[in-house]
Amino acid sequence: AILPHTKRVYFLEDGEMAVVEDHTIHITNARTGARIKPRVQKLTWSVAQAEKGKYPFYMLKEIHEQPAALEQIAATSLPYTKRIAQAIKKSYGAYLVGCGSAAYACIAGEYLFSKIARRHVNVAIGSEFGYHLDFLTPKSALLAVSQSGETMDVLEGVKKAKEKNATIMALVNVVGSTLYRIADDRIPIGVGPEKGVASTKALTGMIAHLILLSYALDGRGSEGVAALKHASEATRALLSTPMIKKVVDLVRVLKNYNHIYVIGRGLSYPTSLETALKIKEISYIHAEGMAAGELKHGTLALVEKGTPCIVFLPNDETYGASLAGAMEMKARGGKIIGISHKPHEIFDEYIPVRDTGVATIIPNIVVGQLLGYYLAIERGFDPDKPRNLAKSVTVK
Ligand code: G6P
Repeated sequence: AILPHTKRVYFLEDGEMAVVEDHTIHITNARTGARIKPRVQKLTWSVAQAEKGKYPFYMLKEIHEQPAALEQIAATSLPYTKRIAQAIKKSYGAYLVGCGSAAYACIAGEYLFSKIARRHVNVAIGSEFGYHLDFLTPKSALLAVSQSGETMDVLEGVKKAKEKNATIMALVNVVGSTLYRIADDRIPIGVGPEKGVASTKALTGMIAHLILLSYALDGRGSEGVAALKHASEATRALLSTPMIKKVVDLVRVLKNYNHIYVIGRGLSYPTSLETALKIKEISYIHAEGMAAGELKHGTLALVEKGTPCIVFLPNDETYGASLAGAMEMKARGGKIIGISHKPHEIFDEYIPVRDTGVATIIPNIVVGQLLGYYLAIERGFDPDKPRNLAKSVTVK
């Protein structure tokens, strides 16, 4: 809101008070009354970045900003991730903590750390992290992941971890936010303002950084940069007019169903959770994402003739087992929507996604965003303002 007026800001800390008059601002410690000399910081975001421009909704604009954002991260973020990698290496017990889509980024991070750097990291949802505190010591390192840097469930855990003298690091988009300020070190996600309530470019930005961080942990930073460039190209291809038309055609089939199931394994497990989240939060269709292997432990009972089942089948070690899960659904009459680098005879519908190794998770997530967005549009809902939900900085 203040960008059109100024980029020079001072972030008030807890316990500080400001009196603003026509030409002066006085900042004091609210308890002692002592004057505080403001340390003015400069915002890097532009007014144009915070407007819809040619797009009908912020969410669509933010989806389309992703290829450029990924290139930008590839070009600039390695020094930050190398520094954080050093801190994680020194730690004894590392944690990734986030809420909502950021929690899914953390789950993806767990697989990426293992796959690329052969390192263990603990993952906790912000609201659950408080119950892990017994394990924290001054040697613990916490990487809190958040677009806004203001999500209370994350901040509360972070503050308690700080009391235990753990090292606090932040992967955060809003520079100057509470999380940004209380962390000992931080990586700015650097994707510009995200105004849509449902996270899009911030999530792919988080995952891009976790890919870089995993490669940096293994001393192969440049491979991470290359992977992000490929993910950017694959995402750009997905956002082409013919591909969008394919998604819209699929959405016209899906929009009248009440339940959609989404499955995947490995990195496609958090992708499935995120796709289901995007579908439910803005199109109000019940969607459930799960690890493909869990299907047989309950959910399969709900699959009947015509039930839509989205299956993520990237070119990795999960392909065969996830395909087997799709076949189990198909055998019960499920309508299989395959998202993969190659078609398969069991697919009733197919969205092609280029294989970019581990970074394929990024374009796969973008498919989920597009499905959620166009399902909301086709069903006549405003994707920027999901009912009953909010974000620390909401859409005007
Ligand atoms: C809200 C948004 C989600 C987001 C979550 C966490 O629930 O609707 O899209 O993932 O908050 O927000 P954060 O700012 O901490 O990433």
